[in-house]
This record gives sequence, C-alpha cells and structure tokens, in this order.
Amino acid sequence: ADRQSGIIARYRQFLPVTEKTPHVSLHEGNTPLIYAPSLSRQLGVELYFKYEGLNPTGSFKDRGMVMAVAKALEEGSTTIMCASTGNTSAAAAAYAARAGLRCIVLIPSGNIALGKLAQAIAYGAEVIAIDGNFDEALRIVRDITAAEPITLVNSVNPYRIEGQKTAAFEICDALGTSPDILAIPVGNAGNITAYWKGFKEYHAAGKTAQLPRMFGFQAAGAAPLVLGHPVPNPETIATAIRIGNPASKDGALAAIAESDGLVDSVTDEEILHAYHLLAKSEGIFCEPASAASLAGVIKLREAGRLEQGLTIACVLTGNGLKDPNTALKLVGEEPRSVPATRDAVMALIRENAGG
Ligand code: F0G
Repeated sequence: ADRQSGIIARYRQFLPVTEKTPHVSLHEGNTPLIYAPSLSRQLGVELYFKYEGLNPTGSFKDRGMVMAVAKALEEGSTTIMCASTGNTSAAAAAYAARAGLRCIVLIPSGNIALGKLAQAIAYGAEVIAIDGNFDEALRIVRDITAAEPITLVNSVNPYRIEGQKTAAFEICDALGTSPDILAIPVGNAGNITAYWKGFKEYHAAGKTAQLPRMFGFQAAGAAPLVLGHPVPNPETIATAIRIGNPASKDGALAAIAESDGLVDSVTDEEILHAYHLLAKSEGIFCEPASAASLAGVIKLREAGRLEQGLTIACVLTGNGLKDPNTALKLVGEEPRSVPATRDAVMALIRENAGG
C-alpha cells in the first residue's frame, strides 16, 4: 500500500519519472477541495478551498519537495539546500530525513512563523538564520549550489514545479472540470506557475473542457508583480510571501497573460480579515499568507470586478497551526481564567451571552 501512496505514484504518467526514480512519499497530496456554503452565499459565487494545509508537513510544498528529493536521490546527490520563508524548509527537512539526505536551510532571521522553525529543527535540518530577507537568502543559496555538490530545492528547481502541478489535477478531478477561476497567493511565484502548467497539461490530455483564469494575489507591502518592479524591503504580516523579487516572475506573468487572469494586491488588514472569516464561518484554519486568495476574491467582488455565480477555487497553501502567534494576536487576549467552580464558569457563560 505504501508504494501506491503520494503524488508520484498517483500521477506518474504526468511526471518526469523513470524506472530509476526511487519511491519517496510521506502520503502527500490528495488534499480535499472543500465547498464553502456560508461564504458562497455571502459572496454570490461558488467558492471552494483547496486545503493544502493537510499535506504531511502542513503546506503545498510537500508536492514539489517529494519530486525534487526523488530526483536528487536518482542523481546520486547527498545534500539538499534551500532558502525559505518557512514552509519550503519544513518540507525539505522532512523529505531529506525520510530519504537520508543532509539538509541545509537559510531563513530570514526573525521573520519565520514559529511552527515552521520548530518543524525544520525537529526534522533535523541544519538551520542558518541570515540577517537579511528571503530574496537575499535565495541569492546566497543559488551561489553556493552553483559551485558545490549540493542540490538546490527551491522552486527554481524544475522538479518542484512538476510536483506542485498535481494540485491542479486534483482540483479538476474533484470538480469533474476546471474551475472558472483559480485564486492563489503569490510569493516567489513558483506555485502559480505550477498550477497553470498542470491545468494546461490536463486540458491537453482531454481531462477538462476548459481552462481557468489565473488570479494571483500578493501582499500590498510585497507586491513586485503588481508594481512591475522588485521591492527591496518587502513587509507583510504574511511572512510566507514576504518576497520582493520573485524567482518565477516570468512563469507567473505568462500564466496570467495566457489565461486572461490578473495579479492584484491585498493589504495586511484584508488578509487578516479573510483569515479570521474563513476560520469562523467555515471552520477552516489556514495561515495568513494563504488567506490572500480569499482576501483577493472578496476585494474583487466588493469592487464589482467579478461576476456572480462563477466557480472559484481558492488555494489555501498552508495550515493555520504553522503560525500560532498570529492567531493569538488576532483576538488580542488570552482566555479568561475563573475559579474552578460550576458557578464561576456559568457566570462567565451568561456574561458572554450578554445576559
Ligand atoms: N503560501 C505559503 C503558505 C507559502 O509558504 C508560500 C511560499 C506561498 C504561499 C507562495 O508560493 O512562492 O510559490 O509563490 N513559501 C516559500 C517558502 C517562499 O520558502 O516556504 P510561491
């Protein structure tokens, strides 16, 4: 059964796999596409969430990392390396542990969510924090891996894109067709590039009758694709997409142009609103960066830029548990403590109900 698990086994015919590619899997992929009845009603569209937070390390990165690690093994590599805002490092660390590879990760000091750092450490990666941002970390990693016998596993590694495109297949399989619109957060721009590749390949294979429009959303303080130039000091509460110079910029712009899509920005306030709304009204907890997709859809609907009734798939790239600090700050207070008596508890329950 284990040999049949994961995205490589499931979508083998669409992936660059040979007889020599070793089997690697932590049962990634096969994540749910969750219909959102409450938000669909509120927004007047048919809204679905591709909940990538249910992957083995809690983000979509597992799809690309399993492919990159399988190919690194096939090529005889012993060490992998990446720059990361957190999720790539968690995935790299986990799959390296599984495959018996050394794993080195560069992270921007002070700007990675707690859960992601905990993961990289627990999985046994060598974690190096730099006094710089993601873009600077990626430049250093590209430099080092170009000169040393170390495999680069950021999404500039084409196997990452190959693995990640399988999420588009799954959305089409779940809907029986492609959505009208795919809404997705954009940081380094690998994932939007991967989804578009996936939708095109599934369409070419006769699996879908149409292609979606690709809608990418960046955080307003880290929106180089919206502005049309790199952002030297990107800032956003959504640290996963705190990126000013996306490596896969060309792939993202091609996806948007070819699909008649768009790229837009959402403020931190809009991101946090969508993040909280999704958890409260649908019971789905994602990380802040992931909520940029929903924030973008809300923004476009409210501006009258999105017609009613369309089927929209929003990608929720990572699990809310990755970033407990943001969730706690959202409500702004710790739970209230009361004496350990029935009366004290009932008094608080009545007070909360306003009576
Ligand atoms: N959402 C989350 C939760 C992410 O971690 C990332 C990227 C993105 C969206 C954006 O995806 O870069 O393909 O456009 N995280 C990378 C990392 C940069 O290092 O974990 P992208």
